Amino acid sequence: MELSRRTFHALAGTAALGFTLTGSGSPTSADTARSVPTGPPPPVPSADGRRHEVGFDRYSLLVDGRRLVLWSGEMHPFRLPSPSLWRDMLEKMRAHGYNAVSVYVAWNYHSPAPGRYDFTGVRDLDLFLRMAAETGLYVILRPGPYINAEVDAGGFPGWLTATEGTARTSDPTYLRYVDEWLSAVNAIVAKRLFTRGTGTVLLYQIENEYDAHVGEPTGRAYMSYLYEKVRADGIDVPLFHNDKGRDGAWAPGSFGTGGEKGRWLYGFDGYPEPDEVPPDWGRFGPGGAKGGATASPRTPGFVPEFGGGWFDPWGGSWFDGKGYAESRRTRDAAYERRFYLTNLANGITLHNVYMTYGGTSWGWLPAPVVYTSYDYGAAFDEARNATPKLPAMHQIGQLLRHVPDLAKLNRAKAVRAADERIKVYHLVNPDTGAHFYVLRNDSEEAVTSTLPDAGIDLPVTVPARDAKLITAGLRIGRRTLVHATVQPMLTLTAGRQDIAVFAGRRGDLAQVVLDSPDEPTPMRLDPEPAWAYNLGKLYVTAPLGVSELSRVRIESDGVDTPMLLLFADDATALRLWPYETPSGPLLVYGPALLRSAELRGSTVHLTGDTTAVTGLEVWGPRGITHVTWNGRPVPTRISGTGSLLALRPLAGVTRPALPALDGWRRRTENPEAESGFDDSGWTAADKKTSFSTTPVPDGQPVLFADDYGFHYGDVWYRGEWTDADGIESVSLAYSTGTQGLLMAWLDGEPLGTHRMPVPDKDRARQGTWTAKATFGLPEGLRKKFREDRESRGSGERHVLSVLVRRMQHDMDGKALDTHKAARGLTAVTFEGASPEVTWRIQGASTPDPVRGPMNNGGLYGEREGWHLPEYDDKDWKDTELPRADRRQGVTWYRTDFRLDVDPGVDASVGLVLDDDPERAYRVQIFLNGWNMGQYINDVGPQHTFVLPNGILRTRGANTLALAVLSDGTTPSGPGDVRLTLLGAAAGGVPVKAV
Ligand code: GAL
Repeated sequence: MELSRRTFHALAGTAALGFTLTGSGSPTSADTARSVPTGPPPPVPSADGRRHEVGFDRYSLLVDGRRLVLWSGEMHPFRLPSPSLWRDMLEKMRAHGYNAVSVYVAWNYHSPAPGRYDFTGVRDLDLFLRMAAETGLYVILRPGPYINAEVDAGGFPGWLTATEGTARTSDPTYLRYVDEWLSAVNAIVAKRLFTRGTGTVLLYQIENEYDAHVGEPTGRAYMSYLYEKVRADGIDVPLFHNDKGRDGAWAPGSFGTGGEKGRWLYGFDGYPEPDEVPPDWGRFGPGGAKGGATASPRTPGFVPEFGGGWFDPWGGSWFDGKGYAESRRTRDAAYERRFYLTNLANGITLHNVYMTYGGTSWGWLPAPVVYTSYDYGAAFDEARNATPKLPAMHQIGQLLRHVPDLAKLNRAKAVRAADERIKVYHLVNPDTGAHFYVLRNDSEEAVTSTLPDAGIDLPVTVPARDAKLITAGLRIGRRTLVHATVQPMLTLTAGRQDIAVFAGRRGDLAQVVLDSPDEPTPMRLDPEPAWAYNLGKLYVTAPLGVSELSRVRIESDGVDTPMLLLFADDATALRLWPYETPSGPLLVYGPALLRSAELRGSTVHLTGDTTAVTGLEVWGPRGITHVTWNGRPVPTRISGTGSLLALRPLAGVTRPALPALDGWRRRTENPEAESGFDDSGWTAADKKTSFSTTPVPDGQPVLFADDYGFHYGDVWYRGEWTDADGIESVSLAYSTGTQGLLMAWLDGEPLGTHRMPVPDKDRARQGTWTAKATFGLPEGLRKKFREDRESRGSGERHVLSVLVRRMQHDMDGKALDTHKAARGLTAVTFEGASPEVTWRIQGASTPDPVRGPMNNGGLYGEREGWHLPEYDDKDWKDTELPRADRRQGVTWYRTDFRLDVDPGVDASVGLVLDDDPERAYRVQIFLNGWNMGQYINDVGPQHTFVLPNGILRTRGANTLALAVLSDGTTPSGPGDVRLTLLGAAAGGVPVKAV
């Protein structure tokens, strides 16, 4: 990339360093590492119209020559089908200290057919990238082409499963399609690169955990191809890959051009179990196999994915999903501190938490391993609420943003805690001399210990299986912190004073020791803190959590600017919001969320959310005398700490009432089961060959749904023949994802339902979900066939109708092309006779142009638009829930409801389904035509389905349609169906209807 002369000089100090990592003749990273000093924290990124340099050395990224610690959270726009809410999540992440968002882009979500790519509406990637830039977040873009991600076929489009060639290799057919996809994505991304000043895309990943052909020519050729393609499309930011094995796969130099200096990063993923001792995967680790960053000593420690929760499988059987509360419990705030602080202590300075907001795998998006909710037990739940995991993220994120010393750390002299159950990592910044100690307690009980080697005599408590970071010799504002026994959270200068915030667990005793040439006059503004002065040092102590915020102001210590120390426990720290404005930083205290702050004249305009009545306090640049909150003036006075303090509290939120769901209308379907049904418009299933990895059984036509263009949701088959006499049974071999099933009818008579058994672990891992359903003919049918033959001779027409809930394609994590395993029927055989059957197949009709190809399968009601709000259901039968019908097949229920949520309230609403767990039925939930997921009553564990605003009209009319598929073996509901409020805040973002 060309760097303009002007920009070049603007980059503090870089000219002198000869630092141009994207050019040729770059210095070695070791040289650069020595020469790039620790500067001030980098500015908040935006599309600022300027060119920027993105490089790195072995310590960290270097953005315009300044060190940057990337503290990123993963969210997937495709798992939140309401663009307005993207902004909500981005603002929440930004406010809680993240400086980057990492996103997969799922090929299947954007491509209904070869050559067709849709980036509009809920697929508007450019809009997402613009929002991220407006919010002040860097973007890590991960468009695959393969992404895994617990989505259908690992992100490969349904149509790709029916193409020739081997995916995830340099097979030319596959690469031709890859080119199509990458060209489409890159045309958008190239316009939003941070290097160009037109966006904030900072890093770009190719492929995903590609460990199948490491070191082999196939793999090298494939990776080189992707690398070259992305570069040829104008993507000039550093590229990387996420090594699954953490042992150097695809490290610089390991494949063709990927070794270009300064342009290829090594990254590795990590998902440690909660009961593991956190591994030393970083630069300072022991190295060797699985050593993580040691595999690439010239690039900074980078985890493109580090577990922030875990996905949950369907219920029942050996995988036994337990619901996301369990992931959130086992990977809680203490897990975050213990593992992520260990990562920082290992020199990892690019850190992405997968997931930070998980969202919803709506429609037919989920991979076979997961159900609809992809909540993930993440820091933000699926309903967009903050969870108890957020305080840890908030505190570490703010710390990294405000303390640049953390961007360049070396291991320092080993230090031991007095109590050896505490493991200590000791790090030092070579430029500033700041010391950091990560204290980790892997034991099952809280440990209180001093750190005499570091001169810390006051006991520090680390709770069981938890960690904390403490520091010594750190510059905060104009003073030097000798040490502190709790974690610093931020330090900034607001107006005429320096502010430093320290945060910890409730009950921690914080001791902050400051160098103080003169004996100062501290001012206690809350009752708890105490202090002492001794030999040029000021010792301030404060118990955390006794009252909300404890404040001490220090003056006359020989420094001309006063210092305000703020002490907060987790809950309080979560209501402290630093915000950078062009006139300097602000610190806001009180509300549940600060979204934005804008200075105009002497007024600061704040926007954000409240969930309960709260005070409001603002420390801001000089000259700010007035405050507004969400557009309304807030009368304030000047407090003893120089803040503007609201005279009256801000209101909380009134939780909106939700209506009961009644007025249901009902209609049964599956006319396809009737022998007289007209299937002449269906596709003849008569192919002889397939590109599937499933062999076509001898003597059978290809019955695989994908070969006929039906890639998502249910598929119907009708097989016809003449003369059924003698048939004793029919066997239907089929292949599906997890929780697949089929049901069959012969001449309109139900033969039964067969559910795909859960295979053993090995077969499940290979994605092999196949079974044979054998249905004996009921005596009634046999008799009828005999009589037919006797009365009419041969020539009587018979129809076997089969509905397959084929579920999803395999994810193909091992690059074995298993996403091409058949879905649907594979072979049909008879006993007692061998009729010549001709087959027709029908799946989803033309993909919904707005909701996309994954919204619908091929149920009769779906083909006829029964799920759509505009469908007229006047002639359906009125009914009430709960119901208990016994019928094999599909029945639809529809109702309308109105919501009238106050426009100033962000209400997050869910739909709950519940019933006797013995009842064998499942429900596809359509809200205003959008497929919000699948409920399986006798499998679980999901009962609550999040309905995103934008699809849900929170002020207006909504239509809910439930497509109920019942096995016919038990009575079937729906049982209890109701709306539930999952979150409410006064504030929120403006929501446009989708
Ligand atoms: C990783 C993979 C992600 C996701 C994650 C588990 O190995 O790269 O796409 O599948 O595991 O949620």
